[in-house]
Amino acid sequence: MATKKLREIVAKQVSMAIGLTEEQILPLINFSQLMLNKRCGGELSVSVKSLNHIQNPGQVLSDSELIKYAGKVAAKITHPGKYIENIAIDSTHISFKIKPSRFVEYVLGEINSAGQQYGIPRSNEPKKKVIIEYSSPNIAKPFHAGHLRSTVIGQFLTNLHKLLGHQVTSINYLGDWGTQFGILAAGLKKQNQTVFSTRSLFDVYVAANSEAEVNAQFKIKAREIFRKMEDGDEEILSLWREIRDQSVSDYSHTYKRLGIKFDEYSGESKYRQSAQDLTNQLKETNILQKAINGTDIIDLSPDGSMSKFVTLARSDGTSLYITRDLAAAIERFKRYEFDNMYYVVDKSQADHFSGLFQTLSKIGHDWSDRCHHLSFGRVLGMSTRKGNVVFLEDIIEEAKLHMLQNMRASKNTKKFESEVDEEHVAETLGVSAIIVQDFKFKLTSDYRFEWDRALQDNGNTGVFLQYTHARLSSICRKSGVSLNLDADTNLLLEEEAIQLVHHLALFEGAIQTAYTEKEACRIVNYLFKLCRLISIAYKVLRVEGTPTDLAEARLLLFNHSQDILSTGMKVLGLKPLNKM
Ligand code: ARG
Repeated sequence: MATKKLREIVAKQVSMAIGLTEEQILPLINFSQLMLNKRCGGELSVSVKSLNHIQNPGQVLSDSELIKYAGKVAAKITHPGKYIENIAIDSTHISFKIKPSRFVEYVLGEINSAGQQYGIPRSNEPKKKVIIEYSSPNIAKPFHAGHLRSTVIGQFLTNLHKLLGHQVTSINYLGDWGTQFGILAAGLKKQNQTVFSTRSLFDVYVAANSEAEVNAQFKIKAREIFRKMEDGDEEILSLWREIRDQSVSDYSHTYKRLGIKFDEYSGESKYRQSAQDLTNQLKETNILQKAINGTDIIDLSPDGSMSKFVTLARSDGTSLYITRDLAAAIERFKRYEFDNMYYVVDKSQADHFSGLFQTLSKIGHDWSDRCHHLSFGRVLGMSTRKGNVVFLEDIIEEAKLHMLQNMRASKNTKKFESEVDEEHVAETLGVSAIIVQDFKFKLTSDYRFEWDRALQDNGNTGVFLQYTHARLSSICRKSGVSLNLDADTNLLLEEEAIQLVHHLALFEGAIQTAYTEKEACRIVNYLFKLCRLISIAYKVLRVEGTPTDLAEARLLLFNHSQDILSTGMKVLGLKPLNKM
């Protein structure tokens, strides 16, 4: 924590006063930011009850006795040191008020020395091997809002884990196998198509699907084709490979625009054989049972009543979605021996994943508790002018277009600089808007997507974060003052500066909570507040035209604020803009 040293100073004072060790006291100390309108350097407080509990175990004191006890402890603290302004007591806490100027000096000093590492929780906890599986769209089927959410959330988790030093492998597990390929291939044959793009494939798939509904002959043809694929027919497999390659290449291009990169493109097709092998192996045990309808199932009910079960093979022996997921999990564990694996998939698949994890455990994989379904709510109303979203590319284009319009409309208001690459800025802002809109609330909540709201530059939006970042960057570039790390920060006495510094001190806490809870909103809301405080501060704390000493101190404050904003934005998956 940024306030670690301050907490240690207080712990030392208290431990000397009552004869306990610093280690015993340290966990009892809390840092709090005081009311926004008070000029104060914050407060560290120790719970009186807990203190007495450690010093006199078993002793229960009344409120008045607790105050007396607190008074005695406080009286023994004779040298509060340069940071503490005064000590106050009540029946619950002994509070140490920190001198505002010292607090500012202290926090900015910590940021100076930590540099890019500022705010990254340092723990002695061993680094973990983590697998994060996300995005995972289905080839030739629509990329829907659920896939988009999975994509941005997954990338955020990947960034966050990497920031904390964990070893992460990101996997995109494509829906690249299944009966839809039979239909698609039959459609391509019928239309005599040999050259295709993701878009034309989708059109063929839609047409073929409708055809299959009315034309039994066509449906049989499609089934036959898929059967051939499962049997390894080289001709049809080479077509399948071509389609898959084309899709992966189109997707990679679009992911790049979003700033997303996977370590591995995997997919259901990869586990076609191992899924079969797994079913065959399980046939040797009594875990797998033959149902009356010929399917192979595993009973997951606690009492053997079959009230809950999973199906591993159809009556014709073909594998299912869950069979391939089982094979994939087992193969990944063999390959990575991960400590944790996260599946970032919408909540409609909760039953699938609970079945998957239970089955893993049932068939003897005691690591099944390392697998987690990170589920999230639905996005309502995400559509483009052309209608409902089908392609990821369209969402990005739509965001960019909206943003370009806004930018052109506000050209005269001087919000945007004239010499910027308009297209690049519009795209970056549009993408930021989509990501931040998604991260505003807890992951499990559903939300309604509205372009106008997401793209505002003065509300709680991605555009506001970008705008503030660019503004800080411009202050640092254009002020005519150069950055001096030794600037006299004792000069930062204004309430606006102190409040901002307070908030900088809380950055690590926000990162830590986001990590523990796996919730991006912890960082997003931290950054919204940071940007509000920054915009209040730069109206009052002018750098240009101010005496050098003071200008340097203010510039240092803005420079550090920009660094922290930038670190936070990058974890979320945003590319901070320096100009707009
Ligand atoms: N392709 C699936 C879908 O679009 C999502 C895959 C999720 N991951 C998994 N391991 N099952 O619904």
